Amino acid sequence: MKFSTTVELSGSDISSDAIVARQAIRDHEVVRLSPARTPEDLRNYYDSLVEAIGTPVNIAEDFTMGGAPTGERWSEIRYRSDVPDMDAFRHSKNAQPLHTDESYVSSAAGVMLFYCEAAAPRGGETTFISGRSLVDFMAAEEAELLERLQTVNVRYQKAADFKDRPIVKIADDGTVDLNFNFYCLGADPAPEAEKLNRDFHEFLETRLPSELILPVGLNRGEGVTWRDDLVLHGRNSFDAVHTGDRAIWKTGLILPAA
Ligand SMILES: [Fe+2]
Repeated sequence: MKFSTTVELSGSDISSDAIVARQAIRDHEVVRLSPARTPEDLRNYYDSLVEAIGTPVNIAEDFTMGGAPTGERWSEIRYRSDVPDMDAFRHSKNAQPLHTDESYVSSAAGVMLFYCEAAAPRGGETTFISGRSLVDFMAAEEAELLERLQTVNVRYQKAADFKDRPIVKIADDGTVDLNFNFYCLGADPAPEAEKLNRDFHEFLETRLPSELILPVGLNRGEGVTWRDDLVLHGRNSFDAVHTGDRAIWKTGLILPAA
């Protein structure tokens, strides 16, 4: 599995675009999808594309209802000038710290996909770090923290769904499996889990070298996929004044068996 690539898609021929995208997603943790011609109807194009690649998962949540699922395929990540910045990252222009999306999702999709409806005038890149780079760096520089990440169970929860497991699991073949979202810690955590959640967040925010992080900025019509358990992702802050100055749509995707 390689870290990242960009694939050029036609933007119109769904079946050939799906074959190209699916193969890239199988082989890469992060794939930027770049249509040669911007599809006129982005929703229609990306609906057809995700259905042709695999099985889309209805991941949308209602942030006013504690993150309860809405049953919709596409989750809106739209800057809204009427929502206070700290109420919901997906409506703010703030930087978002590195995390996995499915930290509390017990039946995970595995692949997440964004497409961009409107790009911010500045910033807003999605940021990625490969789990392998993270672990290599930590093994050399942060061995004690890495040991705790592999041995302490941390429960992440939203609405009724939760997962309870170590933040980092390393398989015998070296595959690094990550599960982390600082803001989704379950209620009444064990003290060592709460401390680890805080310590790892602080490490990522203050001691992780920026050269290990890949920023991916999307223009209107472009997309990006990532293997949610193999990388951490976050977001750079961006400029926005009016509602809709930046708008991204997200869904989950299950790849068919190879
Ligand atoms: Fe996310």
